[in-house]
Amino acid sequence: MDSPGAGPKAGLDDIDPAGKRVLLRVDFNAPLNPDGSLRDDSRLVAALPTIRELLSRGAAVIIATHVGRPEGKADPALSTRPLAAHVERLLGVPVAWVDDCVGEAVEQRAKALRPGQVLLLENLRFHKGEEANDPVFARQLASLADIYVDDAFGAAHRAHASIEGVARLLPAVAGRLMASEIAHLSAILENPKRPLLAVIGGSKLSSKLELLTHLVDRVDSLCLGGAMAATFLKAADREVGTSLVEDEFLDRASAIVRQASERHVDLQLPVDAVVAASPNAEAAEVQVKSVEDIGADEMILDVGPATIHRWEELVKRAGTVVWNGPLGVYEKPLFAVGTQQLAAAVATSSALSVTGGGDLQAAIRSLKLEQGFTHVSTGGGATLEFLEGRLLPGVAVLRDAPRIAKSAAK
Ligand code: 3PG
Repeated sequence: MDSPGAGPKAGLDDIDPAGKRVLLRVDFNAPLNPDGSLRDDSRLVAALPTIRELLSRGAAVIIATHVGRPEGKADPALSTRPLAAHVERLLGVPVAWVDDCVGEAVEQRAKALRPGQVLLLENLRFHKGEEANDPVFARQLASLADIYVDDAFGAAHRAHASIEGVARLLPAVAGRLMASEIAHLSAILENPKRPLLAVIGGSKLSSKLELLTHLVDRVDSLCLGGAMAATFLKAADREVGTSLVEDEFLDRASAIVRQASERHVDLQLPVDAVVAASPNAEAAEVQVKSVEDIGADEMILDVGPATIHRWEELVKRAGTVVWNGPLGVYEKPLFAVGTQQLAAAVATSSALSVTGGGDLQAAIRSLKLEQGFTHVSTGGGATLEFLEGRLLPGVAVLRDAPRIAKSAAK
């Protein structure tokens, strides 16, 4: 199988964008507040270095993104229009906006752009051709620019027209964010500083099976938290009360434990847990229990202090920590403590630390611990699939880029 880090090899250093129009695909799919304002602009902030560099090197930049899942129909609630003002504030440069992403009027606006100017296109997914990777739609996008730069790591697992199709039609290179994501995530899989510790949490084992199966062959230690740990505990014949268990995956959990043992991986399940009757329990109804003593009417809602203490020790000794998924019901402060304490331990450790995947990324940001991590991935599904060892379509298509970029774009 191709290594997921097998490409791209061409980046901004391989092009001369001066005087050119650059189509820059970003992932500005950011969570919104009910009033339409941005709840979290970290994906916008992460793309700024590429935008700034292209502008300073004399390009006109046409930014394209998807927002949400409008399924090929225009939906005003998912317009990119509010993003233009936000990017303008972040960049300190005017950002024009156009109410479509393809078509004659958009082509005119693109052609009129001068070096140093920025145009944000309307949501790509308002057209069915985007998700269908329709060649006609891809050609329309390509006609807007001379060079294609892909900085949308968060969407690299989607073989859509603005990611896959268009990269085959223009000189195509990775932006700084894309390159950095690939470098940091590849290092975990290909050349980690050891010991390599993986911490995997989250609610569903079913969504992490591929990840666990892939990582077990590579890590030295593996800590399993979140609701999915209950499935592992049950597979080991422990009472887990009313905890969320995916009974249909008990065998897969046992297989992962066997795989870990064959590989001499130190697999750590929680030794204690924070339990209550339900996630809505009040503080007085919450208890810490050994995993030997969970009652039939109790639910595991966080890892306990003895577990965290053990895992903190592993973090201290680790050369690299990769972490995906919270360790408890993070939205409830009573059950966020395990995640918070381990995040603080990782952030203050000397280990290289890489984390990603929606919920945990938000948790680390709300704790203001981002600076303590070597790399906080902007990807959700893309990061997960990359760490599962898959070659993402958006990464794969850029592998041919050096030939295209050097002959046509320089
Ligand atoms: C994400 O938020 O993970 C990316 O923007 C991809 O979005 P999608 O899952 O709707 O394709």
